Amino acid sequence: MHVLAPARRPHPGVILAALCGLLLSLLFAVSPSSSAAGTGAAATDYQAENATLSQGTVATNHTGFTGSGFVDYTNVAGSYVEFTVDAAASGQSALTFRYANGTTADRPMNISVNGTVVASGVSFPPTANWDTWATKTVNVTLNAGSNKVRATATAATGGPNLDRLTVGGSTGAAPGMAVAPYEYFGWGSPPNPTAVMSATGVKWFTLAFVLSDGGCNPAWDGSRPLTGGDDQAKINSIRSAGGDVIVSFGGWSGAKLGEKCSSASALAGAYQKVINAYGLKVIDIDIENTEWSSATVRQRVVDALKTVKANNPGLKTIITFGTTTSGPDSTGVDMINRAANSGLANDIWCIMPFDFGGGTSNMGTLTTQAMEGLKARVKSAYGYSDSVTYAHIGLSSMNGKTDDAGELVRLADFRTMLAYAQQHHIARLTYWSVNRDRACGSGTDADSCSGVLQQPYDFLKVFAQYTG
Ligand code: GCU
Repeated sequence: MHVLAPARRPHPGVILAALCGLLLSLLFAVSPSSSAAGTGAAATDYQAENATLSQGTVATNHTGFTGSGFVDYTNVAGSYVEFTVDAAASGQSALTFRYANGTTADRPMNISVNGTVVASGVSFPPTANWDTWATKTVNVTLNAGSNKVRATATAATGGPNLDRLTVGGSTGAAPGMAVAPYEYFGWGSPPNPTAVMSATGVKWFTLAFVLSDGGCNPAWDGSRPLTGGDDQAKINSIRSAGGDVIVSFGGWSGAKLGEKCSSASALAGAYQKVINAYGLKVIDIDIENTEWSSATVRQRVVDALKTVKANNPGLKTIITFGTTTSGPDSTGVDMINRAANSGLANDIWCIMPFDFGGGTSNMGTLTTQAMEGLKARVKSAYGYSDSVTYAHIGLSSMNGKTDDAGELVRLADFRTMLAYAQQHHIARLTYWSVNRDRACGSGTDADSCSGVLQQPYDFLKVFAQYTG
């Protein structure tokens, strides 16, 4: 639940609580080829046979390779292929390896960038036979300019046969906007966001919360200014480090703009002030409590979002709300239908699958179940295909102990959610919150720690593997 601390407010029952370049290798003349892979940014291919090899050989004894051959790792642990790749700017990039593994066993490899192993024991599972090629994508951070990317076999059987490396492409932006953990700067001992970025690779944050300052005017937690303060300084630091922010309006506690602004146009004006203050590309309406329970306010939010979308071409909107274990409750269904009927092309419908009496060992499964319920509702309201529907839904879990005594979201549950996201390519995979993604010290402040044994950012590191 998105509680506004420091006054943690107990809340009744689980339903209310359901808040929830081109570059030349120095050693080999390489002409990488650019291609537009999928719908994303341009990608560049680097052929393995042109890379620097150690204990591997260039081979052509199977079909289906690209370029003039592939690399056979010659069944030696420690054999490697090193690519020299160019990045236009520093930041997160997808490395996609095209490989074949005609055996029945995994051929794991360590992936290093500029001498540091950034992904160890990456699985290269069997591909049926040596003529069948598959891809494996790993997200890494590259420096601007030249980088050395090395794939080293770790098992005695050596690596798979390696055809090429593609840098960038349709998953090149991930973990991008989809993995934007909630962080709050006004409470809960906020970690330095740029330290979170370096530790986990995430670039985006969802900042909580903008509320009413008492009237129809936005302020951080209802009191801190949009500009000139610590919040703006932190946003600037995130952006300077190559990241960006989603601003979240609402949460469980405090005065909501949706209620304090008496018309849709006034509410749109309040949202617009925040959009303008930071030049936002994405806003999140975390609609809970009294803002959620009033149909009048829900319609006001829908109409205000239509206005800001019309006035800010390209602006993405997220609507985040509580759920049952089987998906949106009647209020959630009403909200989705209301938005569809009003012609709001909301980008992401995001549920908070916790605080619903889920237990301690199956929150991952219950989350995927709730997501399938959400999918069905969004699909029927908007008439989308399955794949388009998944691209319009997301989840925001809560790591560790939730607000519901006896409910626990474990790392294993996060892995289940990651697998679901990877299977369906959902639009948002986030959680409440990065402030809580650490073990508790002597205290048990639920706004600043998870209540479970863990290392810092263990939970975020799972979601940070999501490539969209
Ligand atoms: C076979 C196959 C090779 C492959 C090798 C391996 O010999 O033809 O292409 O590299 O197995 O086990 O790695």
